[in-house]
Amino acid sequence: MHKSLWASVLLLVSAAGVTLGTLTLGPLWAAEPAEQRAVERARREVKLLDDIYKTAIVLITKHYVEESSDLPAGEAFKVLFENMKKKGWHEVRLLDGLGEPLNDENTPQDDFEREAIKQVMAGKAYYEKLDTIDGKRYLRAATVLPMVMEKCELCHDNFKGKKVVGALAYTLPLQTNPPSKAAKSAKPVAQKQGK
Ligand code: HEC
Repeated sequence: MHKSLWASVLLLVSAAGVTLGTLTLGPLWAAEPAEQRAVERARREVKLLDDIYKTAIVLITKHYVEESSDLPAGEAFKVLFENMKKKGWHEVRLLDGLGEPLNDENTPQDDFEREAIKQVMAGKAYYEKLDTIDGKRYLRAATVLPMVMEKCELCHDNFKGKKVVGALAYTLPLQTNPPSKAAKSAKPVAQKQGK
């Protein structure tokens, strides 16, 4: 009687252990590489966006901005960034690095932005951090804004003689489960980790 009771208790405990093991360890093992791949995709997206935005800002400044009364490319792009944010793609902020912005809105506003501007002004071209906002995972990345042409001084007197003037700060949601690949990737990831 006792023996069989103990046997069933043991059986229950070990079954629970196994279940717990698969429930907790399985998803954990799978989550990390999935997030790692999402981070790599997000980094690539930052590079692509950064290249497009900066190339366009420079081209517009070069060809369309002649006087300080003209619409600055930076100001026009803030409207573009606002639209991208509204549509749920990503967030981009134009950050001041010299402490005297034309618009106070461009002053670094949180810990990430303050650290990013510190790193960029100290010579780093890129700074990033993973963040959880309202339970969702994000890549936050900042890229250097160099003083690319004299024309910038038309409106920014304080840029004279500077090499770096600010940063673009990106916040991109991590796409941990791209619908088409989620099913395919789950198995190989688990096998890799199990070895
Ligand atoms: C025609 C005037 C004008 C020119 C030329 C111009 N900017 Fe600006 N810039 C502005 C204005 C106005 C703002 C503030 C825009 C806002 O926040 O609405 C700004 C904002 C900025 C900021 C954020 C800090 C701040 O001062 O608010 C940076 C960094 C910046 N510009 C870099 C550049 C660079 C680099 C160039 C040259 C490629 C450039 N700007 C050319 C007018 C100009």
